[in-house]
Amino acid sequence: MRLASILFSSLLLLASFSATAQDGEKLFKQNCATCHLPTEKAMVGPGLKGITERAPSEDWIVKWVKSPAAMIASGDAYANSIKDFSPSMMTDFGFLSDEEILSIVGYIKDYQEPVAEVAVDVAVSTGGGASSGSLDENVLRNILIAVAALLVVLVMILSSVRKSLTKLVDAKTGEVTVERGTWGSITHWMNTHRGWTGVVLLACTLAFLRWGVGVLMDEVGVYQGYKPEQPIAFSHKIHAGQNGINCVYCHTSAEKGKNAGIPSLNVCMNCHSYVNEGPSGTTEIAKIYNALDYDYDTKTYGDNPTPVKWVRVHNLPDLSYFNHSQHVVVGKIECQKCHGAVEEMGVAEQHSPLTMGWCINCHRETSVQVANNEYYEDLHERTPDWHDGDPITVERIGGLECAKCHY
Ligand code: HEC
Ligand code: HEC
Ligand code: HEC
Ligand code: HEC
Ligand code: HEC
Ligand code: HEC
Repeated sequence: MRLASILFSSLLLLASFSATAQDGEKLFKQNCATCHLPTEKAMVGPGLKGITERAPSEDWIVKWVKSPAAMIASGDAYANSIKDFSPSMMTDFGFLSDEEILSIVGYIKDYQEPVAEVAVDVAVSTGGGASSGSLDENVLRNILIAVAALLVVLVMILSSVRKSLTKLVDAKTGEVTVERGTWGSITHWMNTHRGWTGVVLLACTLAFLRWGVGVLMDEVGVYQGYKPEQPIAFSHKIHAGQNGINCVYCHTSAEKGKNAGIPSLNVCMNCHSYVNEGPSGTTEIAKIYNALDYDYDTKTYGDNPTPVKWVRVHNLPDLSYFNHSQHVVVGKIECQKCHGAVEEMGVAEQHSPLTMGWCINCHRETSVQVANNEYYEDLHERTPDWHDGDPITVERIGGLECAKCHY
């Protein structure tokens, strides 16, 4: 009995411990990652590795995070020694509790740099965008093509051998050779091999039907998996994944309008005016500096900038209308639902088929988020007859009407 309770309480302890470790990581990514790295590298703020040895105490860190300005104003010596680190000021985090800040400190203390994993990712993303997956597919396809070509050649040789043999036999027996031609010999073969002909025809018909159904069901997404090489090897895995930068920090207009937008290089410079080296070295980040005509050493901009031409990954035809804020803000749908696990992508790729069937299916299946939604405050006036208890899907509010998606 006692043993069991000890076991149980130590399990509880373990569970609560790992929970705070996870919270620390989450809180760090949500609040601190836009300015700090958990490593030695400085960004907008100093790299936080070793902060517990550097700062006066953990208690000091808690106070500092809650209000850096107050600490500096109080005349605190350490606070004043770091205040000129950067022209930009650290924001107040008065809303974080002591425990939350200490769990962030715990996360920084335990942080291990993921060295090997990053190296692999970089090798993939700089290799012209070809992942090992598509490489295997290519090899397989080439082997198949080679085997097919070999078979064709073999059949040709055999048939010519057979032809000359029949001629030889015919000449000996004195029979007249029937010259059939290609089509003629095919129909002759079909006539003499009815069973096989049936099997082949059936297989062809089934394959054709299956393909037709696929087209009708819209599961054949032509550009699904499209993953073009970009002018700068930008990695969502490093930024949105490892550094936990929020999607809308860069794709700001996703919550405001039709397009999510691609960030301008000025957004990159919030960090890259300090960070000039990534896991793959300095060349890729130097491309940002070249485009902006920026001198990293003197921290000055020249007057000869050239825009970076990102290659568009997603592209709906002009005849259709899609709006991000309608889905992200009103529909409360996560980016990942449509774009997949972008935070794990070394190279951005199209995850969903983006066909009309894809849009329609989701509108049939998904209920609108009515609760606590400004957009639907007047729903009851608009829809007096909707109290039948059935879920209010997008379809029911008119999401399948042609004109909603086509001008
Ligand atoms: C807007 C950018 C920004 C954000 C966000 C930010 N910081 Fe800072 N932080 C700074 C800057 C800049 C400094 C250097 C001091 C200064 O210039 O005010 C700093 C300094 C610090 C220091 C002292 C570093 C040292 O080397 O002594 C600690 C600790 C710290 N921040 C923790 C945090 C934590 C924890 C968070 C998240 C809850 C956070 N910061 C979020 C910009 C930021
Ligand atoms: C640090 C800035 C940054 C962050 C954070 C970021 N992105 Fe991006 N994103 C970019 C840039 C730059 C591009 C264009 C280059 C490319 O395609 O890789 C891009 C491209 C994309 C594309 C493809 C756009 C097209 O051409 O069709 C999608 C989709 C996308 N991001 C989604 C996301 C999602 C989802 C998140 C959050 C998990 C996210 N991004 C976080 C900068 C960012
Ligand atoms: C309901 C599905 C859906 C959701 C949710 C969604 N997207 Fe998109 N996204 C699309 C479609 C469809 C396109 C193609 C639009 C086009 O070509 O006009 C697209 C295009 C993009 C692009 C390319 C540039 C542009 O604006 O066309 C980026 C970047 C992007 N999305 C980022 C995001 C981010 C970040 C989020 C989350 C905040 C998000 N998306 C949420 C479906 C979605
Ligand atoms: C909030 C901070 C932040 C922003 C904004 C940001 N980056 Fe980064 N970026 C980083 C950090 C940190 C690293 C280095 C990570 C490391 O060394 O582990 C990095 C690394 C890189 C690398 C090097 C990758 C490699 O494999 O070596 C490139 C290229 C890059 N960023 C491009 C961009 C572009 C383009 C933008 C703007 C669209 C951008 N970054 C915006 C923080 C940022
Ligand atoms: C992941 C599910 C999902 C996908 C995929 C999706 N939608 Fe939606 N869509 C929604 C939801 C949920 C709403 C309801 C938002 C709201 O409450 O207005 C919505 C609303 C809309 C509306 C407004 C409907 C109205 O009656 O006001 C339009 C237009 C629309 N979507 C177009 C598209 C197009 C075009 C595509 C494909 C390119 C698409 N959607 C893909 C879930 C989706
Ligand atoms: C939820 C949004 C949505 C609704 C509702 C919708 N469509 Fe579409 N439709 C699309 C999208 C997105 C495309 C482009 C996708 C593609 O090219 O595969 C498209 C493409 C088309 C095309 C061109 C097909 C092609 O192969 O280029 C036609 C025609 C069309 N729609 C007709 C209709 C008609 C008729 C209705 C009403 C019965 C309708 N659509 C309702 C989203 C929608």
